[in-house]
Amino acid sequence: MRSFTNLAALALLPAAAYAATFDVVVGGPGILKYNPEFVTAAQGDVVRFIFKQKNHTATQSTFANPCQPAQGGFDSGFVPVADSVVDGFPVAELTVQNTDPTWVYCKQGNHCQQGMVFAVNPGDRFSAFQSAATGGAASTPPTSSSAAPSGFVTVTATVTVPAPSASASSTSTSTTNDHRVIVGGPGRLFYEPANITAQVGDTVTFEFRQKNHTVTASSFAQPCSPLSQTTTTGEVGFDSGFIPVADNATTFSTWTIRVNDTKPIWAYCRQGNHCTQGMVFSVNAVESGPNNFAAFQAKAKGQTAAGNGAISLGSNNVRGAGIATALVALIAGVLL
Ligand SMILES: *[C@@H]1O[C@H](CO)[C@@H](O)[C@H](O)[C@H]1NC(C)=O
Ligand SMILES: *[C@@H]1O[C@H](CO)[C@@H](O)[C@H](O)[C@H]1NC(C)=O
Ligand SMILES: *[C@@H]1O[C@H](CO)[C@@H](O)[C@H](O)[C@H]1NC(C)=O
Ligand SMILES: *[C@@H]1O[C@H](CO)[C@@H](O)[C@H](O)[C@H]1NC(C)=O
Ligand SMILES: *[C@@H]1O[C@H](CO)[C@@H](O)[C@H](O)[C@H]1NC(C)=O
Repeated sequence: MRSFTNLAALALLPAAAYAATFDVVVGGPGILKYNPEFVTAAQGDVVRFIFKQKNHTATQSTFANPCQPAQGGFDSGFVPVADSVVDGFPVAELTVQNTDPTWVYCKQGNHCQQGMVFAVNPGDRFSAFQSAATGGAASTPPTSSSAAPSGFVTVTATVTVPAPSASASSTSTSTTNDHRVIVGGPGRLFYEPANITAQVGDTVTFEFRQKNHTVTASSFAQPCSPLSQTTTTGEVGFDSGFIPVADNATTFSTWTIRVNDTKPIWAYCRQGNHCTQGMVFSVNAVESGPNNFAAFQAKAKGQTAAGNGAISLGSNNVRGAGIATALVALIAGVLL
């Protein structure tokens, strides 16, 4: 587990039932940016920094000094991500404590001076903050009526609480959502929720709680065997690997997959007999057909555990490398 300078307020439980989650991609090949560059969030909302390739940070600064750490501010520390990583990127989470502006920068090399800055609730001051970072005149903040300068990223990734209105669902087609799934916990041999519906492009973030579980792709036909061993079409399938969590743990690692298509995704925990006890998970199971989640789980319970704990990783399988870097950075910060 990474250590952070400010562990004042860990938001561990998804009290976030009604809170929004904002995914912010940090870096990536040839990209010195946070995407989006700012978000407008409410108290209790969660900002997830998803660290992509290279070696960046999410470090709190101030409007006056964009490229200097704020005293007592939060800091993810450097999160190096190898070029070979394709999934399971490390994530640092920030729970928004209030609606005041929070200023963030990357403290790697001259990234900040190149404009790699981010803000929560900047109002209309983001471009002034960014130009102060790049050495431009900070001057007076522009008024909100001024046109957005080029390179200004508008808040397209805003994830709002699903509203029961038709207009809300039509706007959600252009955004992606992250679905949070709790894995295990004291006396809990299940994923919660165990079956979800997701759009292509959405992510599913598994938060590993107590004991020692996995989330491993399987198939409807063989719920308790890794997809890599049962596939007839050469799919490798994802596998988080075992993620042991101490009984006294108070911070939890997360591991994320992306929903690439509309096909159902089937998965299980390959620890001991967890699968045959019903510890299975699905995305986009067709509830109206025979291959629904309940049928999948029933099949798992009727199956004898096969080769649990001994998944064989093919030579073209990079999951092992991905898993090593998938352990998550949890930031908690009190926003100033
Ligand atoms: C990440 O960057 C920091 C600061 O430049 C450096 O100390 C660290 O060695 C880098 N890590 C990797 C794996 O490149
Ligand atoms: C989506 O595609 C990526 C890249 O090919 C892969 O690593 C990931 O496992 C896929 N997601 C699922 C749910 O299979
Ligand atoms: C987690 O479970 C795996 C498989 O049973 C085992 O190899 C590993 O040692 C366990 N880790 C811990 C820390 O208990
Ligand atoms: C959890 O327990 C272990 C072993 O008993 C101990 O070393 C560790 O410091 C404890 N961690 C916390 C966060 O209390
Ligand atoms: C999950 O599975 C249960 C039982 O099959 C079903 O009633 C429910 O509609 C499913 N939920 C989703 C989101 O698919």
